[in-house]
Amino acid sequence: MNALSMSGVVKRYGSTVAVAGLDLDVAAGSLLGLIGPNGAGKSTTLAMAATLTRATEGSIEVLGVDAIAEPREVRRRVGFMPDQMGFYDDMTVDDYLLFFADAHEIPRKERPALIDNLLELVELGPLRERPVAALSRGQSQRLGIGRVLVHDPELLLLDEPASGLDPVARADLLDLLRQLRDLGKTIVISTHILSELEPICTEVAVMAAGRVVAIGAPDELRTEPDPTRTIQVRFADGTGETFTVVDDEEQEALLRRLVADDSRPVLEFERTHRGLAALFEREVAE
Ligand SMILES: Nc1ncnc2c1ncn2[C@@H]1O[C@H](COP(=O)(O)OP(=O)(O)OP(=O)(O)O)[C@@H](O)[C@H]1O
Ligand SMILES: [Mg+2]
Repeated sequence: MNALSMSGVVKRYGSTVAVAGLDLDVAAGSLLGLIGPNGAGKSTTLAMAATLTRATEGSIEVLGVDAIAEPREVRRRVGFMPDQMGFYDDMTVDDYLLFFADAHEIPRKERPALIDNLLELVELGPLRERPVAALSRGQSQRLGIGRVLVHDPELLLLDEPASGLDPVARADLLDLLRQLRDLGKTIVISTHILSELEPICTEVAVMAAGRVVAIGAPDELRTEPDPTRTIQVRFADGTGETFTVVDDEEQEALLRRLVADDSRPVLEFERTHRGLAALFEREVAE
């Protein structure tokens, strides 16, 4: 069974196309890394799967439930961690988890044991009295994961949980994700830097310009040609910018747009070829 199935999904904000006809199937039990450059549509995709943003077109099924028709049912069974935690500065770690236990209507008498278990899992027991505002980035990412586990969801959607972590905090996070995977959770996790998450991913989906352009096991993808094109542009004023397009049509449109912009004359427009293997080696070009 698929834990998540998105088909022909489009999301427009006015004239901006954030997601442009996306297809994505995530088998139950996978740990899928969603990788792509800034603006590829990763956050929008996760937010639509979590039913926090409505798709403009297309269909989304989460754990066999139509997410567009039955968002409440989906929210009960999904844990979504946004890339920003929100501000609950005055709360302690304990209060913070209690707040979400309350929001999810966990019976009062079950809360103490639940919170003890979660704190043990995310290794924040000793910090339970500490204000949320006083946590380090790694601690606060772990608390964010504790928070999405409060209602014991089957599918976790985590937006950039590893960003900004030092190597030790990142290794702790990978351990935690591995444990959750072993508990049978399906996990979708977005990242700019695949190499950081690759050791735990069972699958990788590459996003560019609002679509999934490649999907497969990390080892399969490594040897495939890159279906995206990276266009490097140098402007007459000495500045440069890198764009990602997926086909001739998009490349033509980009060139037309750049040439039409008189405020920034173009000096060079170069298409560079990099295999998908490059994704495994370093950060995706922005
Ligand atoms: N609320 C919004 N209103 C208007 N445009 C938006 C909104 N949210 C996202 N976008 C646009 O949609 C596109 C995709 O954004 P999204 O945040 O999904 O990308 P991303 O892959 O998560 O990028 P990043 O790596 O920077 O987090 C971007 O061009 C963005 O500017
Ligand atoms: Mg994002």
